[in-house]
Amino acid sequence: METEERIMRVREVRRRLVREGPSRTRPPGLDFETVALPERDCDLLRDLLIAEGTETVVEVGLAYASSALAIGEALITVEPSHPRHVVIDPFQESIWSNVGWDLLLRAGLGSIATLMLAPSSIALAQLAAEGLIADAAFVDGSHRFHEVFVDLYFLRKIVRPGGLIVLDDNWAPSVRTAAGYYEHNLGWIAIPDAFASGTPWTIGTGLTAEAVPRCRAFRLPDPSFEPPFEEFRPF
Ligand SMILES: C[S@@+](CC[C@H](N)C(=O)[O-])C[C@H]1O[C@@H](n2cnc3c(N)ncnc32)[C@H](O)[C@@H]1O
Repeated sequence: METEERIMRVREVRRRLVREGPSRTRPPGLDFETVALPERDCDLLRDLLIAEGTETVVEVGLAYASSALAIGEALITVEPSHPRHVVIDPFQESIWSNVGWDLLLRAGLGSIATLMLAPSSIALAQLAAEGLIADAAFVDGSHRFHEVFVDLYFLRKIVRPGGLIVLDDNWAPSVRTAAGYYEHNLGWIAIPDAFASGTPWTIGTGLTAEAVPRCRAFRLPDPSFEPPFEEFRPF
């Protein structure tokens, strides 16, 4: 199948998912709207990955595959020699009845995607031990502070220096705090423009209320470095 046809096939699956919703949801019925990455943010994620010319992407949290389809579209558009999309979700089969994985297959992305049915803390450690090198990662899994922190710990070893790590739910204190450590201590550079036109979320209340984009992208330092522990910066 020609590249253009493959892209159109992914776009059609994405369009139908937005228009009609998934074929099955975790109850209650509005779950898709709350859980899935909105189309606008998916498009920004796709465009960012295309602009980067990404070949290998690691994703944490599949659910309805809204973001995964956008990542797949980016990889097909870039057309690298060995596109690879590693998706991690321990609950895709049990809680989500494989709805996201089935959508990836329907979109023709089965040949580039691999699903790991394990918690990200285990799967990412395994990928790091295997020596996987990725150009980018998208993190939308567990939103508990300690689990996001561990995801970022391993992704820092997997994503190449100068690569990208994008986080969803940048409004959540747990996610912002985990990312704050890497930003303040390990030289991760936020890319404010990447999701500036994405879905806004309000953080804080009253006079401290502030609208922030739902997703936040970071570029890893190149070269990577390990700071002396005495130079720890509280964040
Ligand atoms: C907000 S949803 C992801 C939505 C997805 N990005 C989309 O656009 O449809 C969060 C996902 O993270 C998964 N998850 C929860 N804990 C996880 C863990 N420890 N490791 C990996 N994934 C996890 C859940 O099963 C769920 O599918």
